[in-house]
Amino acid sequence: MKELSLNILDIVQNSLAAGASHIAVDIAETGDTLRITVTDDGCGMDETTVRNVTNPFYTTRKTRSVGLGIPFFKLAAEQTGGDLTLRSTPAGESDDHGTVISALFYKTSIDFTPLGDVSSTLCTLVQGLPDGTDITFTHSLPGGTISLDTAEMRAVLCGVPLSTPDVIVFIKDDLAAQYAEARALK
Ligand SMILES: Nc1ncnc2c1ncn2[C@@H]1O[C@H](COP(=O)(O)OP(=O)(O)O)[C@@H](O)[C@H]1O
Ligand SMILES: [Mg+2]
Repeated sequence: MKELSLNILDIVQNSLAAGASHIAVDIAETGDTLRITVTDDGCGMDETTVRNVTNPFYTTRKTRSVGLGIPFFKLAAEQTGGDLTLRSTPAGESDDHGTVISALFYKTSIDFTPLGDVSSTLCTLVQGLPDGTDITFTHSLPGGTISLDTAEMRAVLCGVPLSTPDVIVFIKDDLAAQYAEARALK
């Protein structure tokens, strides 16, 4: 994929399919590295699935025989000299179920894929977010941290849907302002 933000979209789709009520997307950037972590409280995966999930020919979906979201994300990280780790607890085993996927990238590698337009990716996600699912986003940069919390926004919006065009425009502008401030201070 041309942008890591598209990989993020794919990983978050898995969390949505897993019925998560809270999804956290955290990006931590230093001068040389970028780490993307997606945490959800969805149904989780059993041990066999966890073991097979980085294999491109594995999927539990019946509509296509090849699952590629996680293998592509892993490959993108490994190509830069980084790695991908996955931790999951299935719903049957614990009330504290869910999945954490974390990928480390070395920005100095010639094979590093740029993050791309993460604000647009977030807006796409927020627009299609089901009721009962919320997303928190943080992106820590040397100059500051950008954040978004849809539960907080829902509380302020008093019933106005997150998918309302004016709300999406507000989110886009707010993220742009936060990025401008963090980038100015780096
Ligand atoms: N966050 C998650 N929670 C529960 N199961 C997951 C999660 N992420 C991935 N999976 C499981 O791993 C499989 C492979 O995921 P992925 O590589 O994205 O391929 P695909 O989504 O096309 O099946 C999924 O079909 C699903 O069973
Ligand atoms: Mg997927």
